[in-house]
Amino acid sequence: CGIVGYCGHQQAEHVIIEGLRRLEYRGYDSAGLAVVADGTLHWAKKAGKLANLATELETHRLPDSNQGIGHTRWATHGAPTDANAHPHLSADGKVAVVHNGIIENFATLKAELIAEGVIFSSDTDTEVAAHLLGRETARGAGLAEAMGRVATRLAGAFTLVAVSADEPDVVVAARRNSPLVVGLGEGENFLASDVAAFIEHTRDALELGQDQVVTITPDSVAVTDFAGNPSEAHPYHVDWDLSAAEKQGYDWFMRKEIFEQPKAVADTLLGRWSDRGELVLDEVRISPEELRRINKIVIVACGSAFYAGMVAKYAIEHWTRVACEVELASEFRYRDPIIDPMTLVITISQSGETADTLMAIRHAREQHARVIAICNTNGATIPRESDAVIYTHAGPEIGVASTKGFLTQVVACYLLGLYLAQIRGMKYGDEIRALVDELESMPDKIQRVLDGIEPVYELARKMARDEDAVFFLGRHVGYPVALEGALKLKEIAYLHAEGFAAGELKHGAIAVVEEGTPVFVVVPPEGRDQLHDKVVSNIEEIRARGARTIVLAEEGDTAVSAFADMLISLPRCSTLLQPLVAAVPLQAFACELATAKGHDVDQPRNLAKSVTVE
Ligand code: G6P
Repeated sequence: CGIVGYCGHQQAEHVIIEGLRRLEYRGYDSAGLAVVADGTLHWAKKAGKLANLATELETHRLPDSNQGIGHTRWATHGAPTDANAHPHLSADGKVAVVHNGIIENFATLKAELIAEGVIFSSDTDTEVAAHLLGRETARGAGLAEAMGRVATRLAGAFTLVAVSADEPDVVVAARRNSPLVVGLGEGENFLASDVAAFIEHTRDALELGQDQVVTITPDSVAVTDFAGNPSEAHPYHVDWDLSAAEKQGYDWFMRKEIFEQPKAVADTLLGRWSDRGELVLDEVRISPEELRRINKIVIVACGSAFYAGMVAKYAIEHWTRVACEVELASEFRYRDPIIDPMTLVITISQSGETADTLMAIRHAREQHARVIAICNTNGATIPRESDAVIYTHAGPEIGVASTKGFLTQVVACYLLGLYLAQIRGMKYGDEIRALVDELESMPDKIQRVLDGIEPVYELARKMARDEDAVFFLGRHVGYPVALEGALKLKEIAYLHAEGFAAGELKHGAIAVVEEGTPVFVVVPPEGRDQLHDKVVSNIEEIRARGARTIVLAEEGDTAVSAFADMLISLPRCSTLLQPLVAAVPLQAFACELATAKGHDVDQPRNLAKSVTVE
C-alpha cells in the first residue's frame, strides 16, 4: 500500500492526491483520504483506482484544510470495497488512520474491542488500530502518546499514519517492519511510504528506524520510540528528481524503463573499480576474512529478482567455485534450511521492502548467516538489515513488471560474483578487469537491441490478435531468461506463458506443443562448449512437432537460421552475460503485446509493485 501524510500551508487534499498518484504503483485497488477542518474530520474513500476517488472528490468537495492523510490500497484483509478502503475511523469519529502491512493479532484485538461494545464497519485488520487509537485519545492521551501505546499492542508489520479532530496541525505515524519516510519542507512536512510522494516539494528526508513514532507539525518533526523517549532518525538527501518519476513521453512507465536500461546498467557499473584495482561495493559491514571463510552461498528473492538470482548462480559458481543455491524467499524460511555462520545469503530486491524476502533474511541472520543485499532503493529495510549492500542505482522503477530492475540486479550479481572471486583469490586483477570491461560494453549492446526493436513490436501486435499461449525455452543462463520472458507476458498480457529448460522439454512439456504453437528460444552464443548445438537440437525437436519458432541468437549465427520462423539477432557477448541482451526483446514483446490488447501495462490486475505482506 502507499501512504501519505501532510501538515503545512498548502491545500492538504491536493498534496495528498498528488502524492498518492506517485505511490499508486504500490497498490491500487482502492484509495482514500481524511483531512481535519474546524475541529472535525472529513474523509472520502472509494474502491478502484485513485481516479475514482478523484472523481468522488469533484462531486463531494472536502473543506479547505492544511493537514491530512491518504492511502492507496493493495488488499490483504477484506475485499477491495469502499468500506474496506482506508482511512478507518475510531468509534467516536475523532481519529482517522491509514495503514500499510498486516496486523497479525487483529482477531484477538477485535474480539476485545467487540466485547467493549465497539461496532466494526469493515473487514480490515486496520480498523482495530483506529478503535484502539480512539480509545486511548478518549482516555485523554495525545495522539502521539496514543500511537505509541497502540503500536506496542500490535503484532506484525505496520506503518500507521493518523490525524485527530482534536489536534489541528499534527500528523502522527508509527512504523514496524513496513516503510515510512519523512519529507522535510519549509513550513510543511510530509510522511510517505517512499520519497516519490513528496519529491516535488522537498528532497530532504528522514529515514525512520524500527519501532519509532514520528509527529509532524508544519514547523517540527519529533521522533520517539513507542514509549515516548526521544529517538534518532537518519537524515538524507534524495538525489533523483521528479522528472525521473514521470513518463517522459512514453506511453507507459514500463516502456520508458525498458529504454532506460542502457543507462541503468551503466549506472550500476559506475565507480566500481577502485584506484587499487579492486571492485567497490556500496556499503560493506563485513570483512574480507569473513567472506573468505564462506563455504556456501544461498540466494533468496521473489519474482523477477528470483530469476536474476538464477542467472547469478551460474556466474557465481563458475567464478568463485563456491556452491550456490537459489531459493524463493517465501519457501526458504519455512523449510528449515541448513544455514550457519559460514553461509553467505545474497538477497535481491528492487524495492528492498518485499516482505517474503525480508523475513527470509531475518531468518538467515538468526542462524548467524551473513547477508549481502542487492537493492535499488536507498535506505530500504532489506539493505538496512543486511551486512553489505550493492545498490543497483537504476533510478525509480514505477512499472509493476520489473525491467530495468531485473537487468541491473543481474549486473549487480555479476559484480558481486567477481568481488567474491577476487577476495577469495579465484580471479586476479587482469582477469577481473577483462570481465568488467566486457560488462562495460553491455550498455551499448543493449542499446543496439533497442534500436532494432520494431520487428519485435510487429510480432507482438500480430500475436495479440490470436495467441493465448506462448512458450519460452532456454538453457544455462538462457533458462532464467526464458522464465523471465514468460513471467513478463503473464504479468501484463494475462497470457498463459511458460518458460522451460530447453533440455527438459522432451521429458514432458513437449506434449503440449501443437501445430503453430509459438515458442521463443534463447540460443547461447556459438562457442567451445556444446551448449549452442544442444539448443539447436531442441529447436529441431519442437519444430518437428509443428511449433512456430521465434529464435533469439547471436548475430551471424548461421547454424540456427534454418530453424527459425523468426530470428531476433543479439549482439555478441559471452554466454554468462547474454541475459543482459536476451531479456530485452522479451520485455519489449510483452509490453507491446499488452498494449495492443488494451491492458493497463503499468498497473496490471491483481499485482502490486512492492508486496509488503507475506
Ligand atoms: C512483486 C512485483 C514483481 C517483483 C517482485 C519482487 O511481485 O510484481 O515484479 O519482481 O515483487 O520485488 P522486489 O522489489 O523484491 O525485487
